[in-house]
Amino acid sequence: MKTTVSVIGWAVIFTVIVAVFFESCLSAEESQFRKKFIENHKANNLQAQSVLIKKNKDILPAEINSLITEAMLPEKSYQDRVYLLDIANAIATMNIHWNNGDEELLKKVEKLQKEEVEKEKKKTEGYEVIKKAERVPGNFVMAAHKEEMAAKGLSPVIYPHWVHRAFFRCKVCHEDIFIMKRGANDLSQTKIGEGKQCGTCHNGKISFNASSEENCVRCHIVGKPESRPLMNLSYYNSAKFKEIASRLGAEWNSENLSDGKLPVDKLGFINWVELDKVKAFNPRTNLNGGTDAEGVRETNILFETSVTFLKNVLFSHKIHSTWVKCSMCHPETFKPEIGANRVKMIEMKDGKSCGRCHGKVAFTHADCLRCHNFTKENTPEDVLINHAPTTAPAQ
Ligand code: HEC
Ligand code: HEC
Ligand code: HEC
Ligand code: HEC
Ligand code: HEC
Ligand code: HEC
Repeated sequence: MKTTVSVIGWAVIFTVIVAVFFESCLSAEESQFRKKFIENHKANNLQAQSVLIKKNKDILPAEINSLITEAMLPEKSYQDRVYLLDIANAIATMNIHWNNGDEELLKKVEKLQKEEVEKEKKKTEGYEVIKKAERVPGNFVMAAHKEEMAAKGLSPVIYPHWVHRAFFRCKVCHEDIFIMKRGANDLSQTKIGEGKQCGTCHNGKISFNASSEENCVRCHIVGKPESRPLMNLSYYNSAKFKEIASRLGAEWNSENLSDGKLPVDKLGFINWVELDKVKAFNPRTNLNGGTDAEGVRETNILFETSVTFLKNVLFSHKIHSTWVKCSMCHPETFKPEIGANRVKMIEMKDGKSCGRCHGKVAFTHADCLRCHNFTKENTPEDVLINHAPTTAPAQ
């Protein structure tokens, strides 16, 4: 995702730069004719265009060819190229229409246009593959070293949170092994080979060895048919999970699940809260076999919802501190003091507040009723209350 974002980010920045400099770049090489043609084109002034095309009949083939040459310069971006070819196409078409001009020129432009679209489609197919792989919450494509991987004939990596969550609580990795932010860990095969990062476990002892040739494609798997099980959850198999869990000193009790099937939420993704509720699993809380030093906090906090059409939100410290360390929330994201934080939905979409996890690895913020789930009548006494502001919220 880091790479997707940065590539898309760069694409956006690049487009803006192109848009800003486009006029000036063009005008340097632009003929009087082209300038006038583009002006009429933008104004959609067909009357003026027909006069211009007829008057300049003799220079049109040269104008079209110079547009083509310029469009195909290697440093031109896709947007640039499409724009210039569109202009060339328009001139060629009008030249045929009003001057009985050369049809071959139009064919030449159209062929190039088609090729450009095909090339671009091939490029963006990469994004489709990533989107598919990342449809499952917490499946992250890792492609910061895309070129080096490609040089070795390897695809980018899929890191599937869901497979790991079945055996390890978040606190095993966050943040002793990984900072909880995409792209923040400077992942590399060298460090993995030294037993750091993924190599903390993928060392042939805890899990398959990342330095063995036969295992490269188990991680470098993006776009391969073998990645399907990580995307449609068919990687799950109760016998296999039992075996892995027992190797790791965790538990997988599929007999507690109806039909041994993974419980799913409204969107068809794993319902991890249900797995805990029925004691279908017992993921490790650390790798060294000790106890969970921080422990679990038992308090419940009720966020009163001011809008009448939605229920209140009951935040369970127990569910959260079972999975994650206190320091993932306190003090940066939430001050550990009742009523000290105003939670706003709008921030979740930006990955802040509850959205640091929900919508990324935990269930999505679009699943409204899974949070807005608690009756507004008869609040139990042992619940701490974060009161809704009676007037417009401060700040
Ligand atoms: C086996 C290790 C492991 C476990 C267990 C784990 N994670 Fe992660 N997590 C990662 C890795 C690896 C990354 C990506 C880091 C990177 O790109 O540098 C990550 C990234 C994240 C991010 C950053 C997302 C973003 O968009 O920046 C969040 C949030 C996160 N994890 C939440 C969780 C939660 C919640 C759990 C438990 C339910 C969990 N993780 C369990 C390894 C783990
Ligand atoms: C446990 C998963 C895992 C396995 C198995 C694995 N890799 Fe990687 N590999 C990664 C991750 C994660 C990265 C960093 C991805 C990124 O660039 O964002 C990476 C990066 C790379 C890179 C990019 C350059 C670099 O040095 O980081 C190369 C090359 C590479 N791996 C080769 C291999 C080879 C060869 C094998 C088999 C011997 C292998 N990998 C097995 C996870 C794995
Ligand atoms: C805390 C230990 C741990 C860490 C850290 C860890 N993994 Fe894993 N990973 C496992 C275990 C356990 C499995 C289950 C498979 C098994 O061991 O049989 C697994 C399974 C996988 C799979 C499923 C593929 C398969 O063929 O079974 C992928 C892909 C994967 N890990 C990638 C990664 C990557 C990439 C990283 C680092 C970004 C990473 N893992 C970090 C323990 C870990
Ligand atoms: C991860 C939990 C969570 C999810 C999912 C969630 N909310 Fe909220 N929402 C909260 C919390 C906490 C508050 C703050 C307390 C309050 O004002 O209700 C809140 C506040 C609100 C508010 C009032 C103030 C504001 O920020 O706008 C509205 C309206 C709202 N949510 C609507 C929704 C809708 C609609 C959805 C689904 C698209 C949704 N929520 C999903 C947790 C959640
Ligand atoms: C997933 C995020 C999250 C985690 C993890 C978390 N908290 Fe909190 N905590 C909150 C939120 C949200 C509040 C409510 C603050 C408010 O009302 O504005 C809160 C409130 C508190 C409070 C004041 C209310 C109370 O319960 O007495 C304390 C103290 C606290 N947390 C301690 C902890 C400790 C200790 C841990 C680890 C065992 C922990 N928290 C883990 C989110 C978290
Ligand atoms: C550090 C990560 C993290 C943050 C921050 C976080 N959550 Fe969660 N939350 C989780 C995880 C992990 C689960 C377990 C379910 C899952 O992964 O889908 C969970 C579960 C829940 C559930 C239980 C749903 C059920 O089915 O019973 C609710 C409700 C919830 N979160 C609300 C919130 C609210 C409200 C906030 C913000 C005040 C918040 N969470 C912030 C990680 C987080």
